[in-house]
Amino acid sequence: MHRNFYRILKKLLYFILAGVILSGSAAWAAEKYYYDWTAPPEIASMKNPYSGNPGVRKEGGAVYQKWCLRCHGRKGDGEGSSSLSLRIPPGDFTDKKRMNAQTDGTLFWKVRVGRGEMPPWQLILRKEEIWKAIGFIRKFSK
Ligand code: HEC
Repeated sequence: MHRNFYRILKKLLYFILAGVILSGSAAWAAEKYYYDWTAPPEIASMKNPYSGNPGVRKEGGAVYQKWCLRCHGRKGDGEGSSSLSLRIPPGDFTDKKRMNAQTDGTLFWKVRVGRGEMPPWQLILRKEEIWKAIGFIRKFSK
């Protein structure tokens, strides 16, 4: 009876230990992506389903004007009216080198999860609105 009890207890402890290690490493991986602000590869490689459509770009412009302009500015240079109160400057969308180094999927992910003073737009905007806004943002570095 005793021996059985200890065997079960041991199994239970292993089980708990494995659970702690597994959930800890999953949380660590998620945090790493967040702090580096590096999109997970499967999202970074996503293509913008709305790219190359002028009508859609206009819709993206409306999203931008309503939600993004106050920080990122009319010209996309990060000089929006609210930008003075930000501790970290918003990105400069006119910077070709910076923008070309990032895939549409990467920008999409950054906008969705946000970081610091950049809001996590997934709480407010639908995916297609974000994709359209990305299409619009690209125009600043063209
Ligand atoms: C309250 C101010 C604010 C608003 C509103 C805002 N952003 Fe930002 N955004 C930021 C800040 C600050 C950063 C830089 C964050 C960092 O580097 O930690 C940023 C970064 C970004 C970046 C990444 C740029 C890069 O090169 O890394 C993208 C893309 C972006 N914002 C898009 C948007 C879009 C699209 C909207 C509207 C839906 C929006 N932002 C609204 C403040 C804002």
